[in-house]
Amino acid sequence: MQHQKILILDFGSQVTQLIARRVREAHVYCEVHPCDVTNDWVRAFAADGSLKGVILSGSHASLWEDESLRAPQAVFDLGVPVLGICFGMYAIAEALGGKVEGGHKREFGYAEIRARGHTKLLEGIQDYATAEGQGMLQVWMSHGDSVTEMPPGFKLMASTESCPIAGMADEERGFYAVQFHPEVTHTRQGKAILERFVLSICNARADWIMGDYITEAVQKIRAQVGDEEVILGLSGGVDSSVAAALIHRAIGDQLTCVFVDHGLLRLNEGDMVMDMFVGKLHAKVIRVDASELFLGKLAGVSDPEAKRKIIGSEFVTVFKQEAAKLTGAGAKGAQWLAQGTIYPDVIESGGAKSKKAVTIKSHHNVGGLPEQLGLKLLEPLRDLFKDEVRELGVALGLPHEMVYRHPFPGPGLGVRILGEVKKEYADLLRRADAIFIEELRNFKDEATGKSWYDLTSQAFTVFLPVKSVGVMGDGRTYDYVVALRAVQTSDFMTADWAELPYALLKKVSSRIINEVRGINRVTYDVSSKPPATIEWE
Ligand code: XMP
Repeated sequence: MQHQKILILDFGSQVTQLIARRVREAHVYCEVHPCDVTNDWVRAFAADGSLKGVILSGSHASLWEDESLRAPQAVFDLGVPVLGICFGMYAIAEALGGKVEGGHKREFGYAEIRARGHTKLLEGIQDYATAEGQGMLQVWMSHGDSVTEMPPGFKLMASTESCPIAGMADEERGFYAVQFHPEVTHTRQGKAILERFVLSICNARADWIMGDYITEAVQKIRAQVGDEEVILGLSGGVDSSVAAALIHRAIGDQLTCVFVDHGLLRLNEGDMVMDMFVGKLHAKVIRVDASELFLGKLAGVSDPEAKRKIIGSEFVTVFKQEAAKLTGAGAKGAQWLAQGTIYPDVIESGGAKSKKAVTIKSHHNVGGLPEQLGLKLLEPLRDLFKDEVRELGVALGLPHEMVYRHPFPGPGLGVRILGEVKKEYADLLRRADAIFIEELRNFKDEATGKSWYDLTSQAFTVFLPVKSVGVMGDGRTYDYVVALRAVQTSDFMTADWAELPYALLKKVSSRIINEVRGINRVTYDVSSKPPATIEWE
């Protein structure tokens, strides 16, 4: 089935992905592409008639900083509605004969705007009305430049004290522009405004629905793979698990998963993965117990980056060995390598000009593998955002607990044991960490009714290879120390340490010290990122 779609051109704002999320929440398919695509590219993208509208994003830059940050003229000639957001508004003004001027007064944060001149975009949408009956919107703005002259054909749609042209529209042509950011949740009616644009103004069909998506994705995988075989590196993380479940739904035993246990997994993690995929889904999974190999290679190594490199390269070696057995020389073997790449990975590696200042950390364990193995690449989650992947996982029957798990780094406990990694340390850490996670799940926040596990973005225990003195019963102890780490974040680029209730910390500390012989002291990490990172190494 061909989905109708919205094109989002990214001028480099930090929140462009949120525009896409809001559009998808309205059940309309959309794609994010860099703003410097060519006119020919735009026309080709629209050629099959499925394109219903274009949204031009905000930017971290000012219009004056970079001449290349302009909208391709073709978007205005397609005959579909266009919505400009913040920088996207300047791009419209600039392209269609208006005037943009450098900021005199910078507006940043909350603003209240008067929604004037009854346009279809804002009609009936307001937070409250003034005594004079004027509709008001509480919005989030962040800008220095502003439009000082509207292009011919445009009328005023919204204004604030300091920004007289905070919104403009040429309804004849379906062009709308707003100075504020409807995609962020601080703009209370933002979701309604974006929904209005894609559903009522663009008339896009609301057919992006996860239940239907499974049927579609299954057909697509079958058509792509035919009767060939696929291998997939299963890590137990959300993306590879959902990819495995989806591919297994499509092609059953033509899929073989390889699960490399490097000995640095959490308590019972390997068994849980096997129980789920083999026990419940009846998938073919090869479990490779490589813990001795990994721990052997890590012996005597204490530098964090060296440890990461060893774990990464051993992982690739082990995976390749297993893959070689399955791809076989001459015989009919696997021809495909499946990966759980998701849409944010695709967008980030797009390399738009607009993103040139932003460096993105790549944590992929198996980057470059398909070429090295001579395999074709199967990436069934390429179109999906993380929360869509989770929704898909639940729809495929994976347990909620697995799908909504906190992220876990590829090198596993290897970066949570400071300095040299030893089996003894990993065993102690696994038990302490399991207690912390169990209590986070048990403790509910009274105000929200949510567990502290769900209220934190990532939580774990770190093993410190130092000993401190304690007293237990009548005796003196001289044992190891662990640190608890729990953070709240939306993007993992910055994070705050979580203000966990004392009662929870008390319970965790007393259980760890009583139940894990070898640890006699528990500390709580109260550092935010930056300057600290989330992991300790
Ligand atoms: P930091 O420690 O950089 O972590 O604040 C940010 C997020 O990235 C995860 N992380 C990793 N994930 N391989 C991974 O797959 C790694 O080497 C790695 N290092 C950090 C970390 O758990 C957090 O979610």
